[in-house]
Amino acid sequence: MARITAGIGSSHIPLLGVASDFDKTGEDYWRDCFAGYDWTKGWVAQQRPDVVILVYNDHASAFDMRIIPTFAIGCGERFRPADEGWGPRAVPDVIGHPDLAWHIAQCLVLDEFDMTIINEMDVDHGLTVPLSMMFGKPDAWPCRIIPLAVNVVTYPPPTGNRCWLLGEAIARAVESFPEDINVQIWGTGGMSHQLQGPRAGLINKAWDNRFLDDLSADPQRLRRIPHIEYLRETGSEGIEMVMWLIMRGALGPDVRQLHRHYHVPASNTAVGHIVLEKLT
Ligand code: DHB
Ligand code: FE
Repeated sequence: MARITAGIGSSHIPLLGVASDFDKTGEDYWRDCFAGYDWTKGWVAQQRPDVVILVYNDHASAFDMRIIPTFAIGCGERFRPADEGWGPRAVPDVIGHPDLAWHIAQCLVLDEFDMTIINEMDVDHGLTVPLSMMFGKPDAWPCRIIPLAVNVVTYPPPTGNRCWLLGEAIARAVESFPEDINVQIWGTGGMSHQLQGPRAGLINKAWDNRFLDDLSADPQRLRRIPHIEYLRETGSEGIEMVMWLIMRGALGPDVRQLHRHYHVPASNTAVGHIVLEKLT
């Protein structure tokens, strides 16, 4: 039986990818930010997940105003890094797990979550930056990755509660997959940030840290945070954090926080990440 053993939440700021790709991680601006991921890199290497279900959002790379899937699952064999305007990142291709991905797609649709099934797409910084932060710069990513894309770019994004329920359904789907494999689920994006307009650069440390606290202390509160609160308190792009609730919903009621890191500044965004172990 496949099992979800742990979850990670992490920012996906594109500049982190640039710092990694161009070996700038030791520079003053980046040192502390990247050091916060050292523990997690060691832990992931020890855990050796067979598959990561990587919940992320596309930023008008694979999807645009022509097609806006609320929830999409990548069922293909391979996904290439997207060209986001300056050529694709020089990072390995993402190797999918079509058998598990199709199984999850089937279970979710029968469980009344109508997923969009994607067999071909390129993956942008939303997916590749967290891989760099957890795995560094290997020649090939050390596990299979199932991309799970969420629309948080064009209104209306899904509610936090809907994301949580999807996470619970993903956990049920994984548990009914007959192979004995170790699966992690990562939720990416955030934390507080606004990239445009008069409030560009907005960071809300108090709000972000309460969100991180409550992933283990009071996750039920997080399910009920309305869109308008994300917008008001965490800026126009803070809504990316609903994707962390898919990860959290998939871990079940009891988790233990193994590691946590919060750092400002990085580009225009508060960098946060957390590692949660599933207990029951
Ligand atoms: C930045 C952060 C993001 O989440 C993103 O998708 C694009 C840019 C930034 O802080 O620069
Ligand atoms: Fe983003």
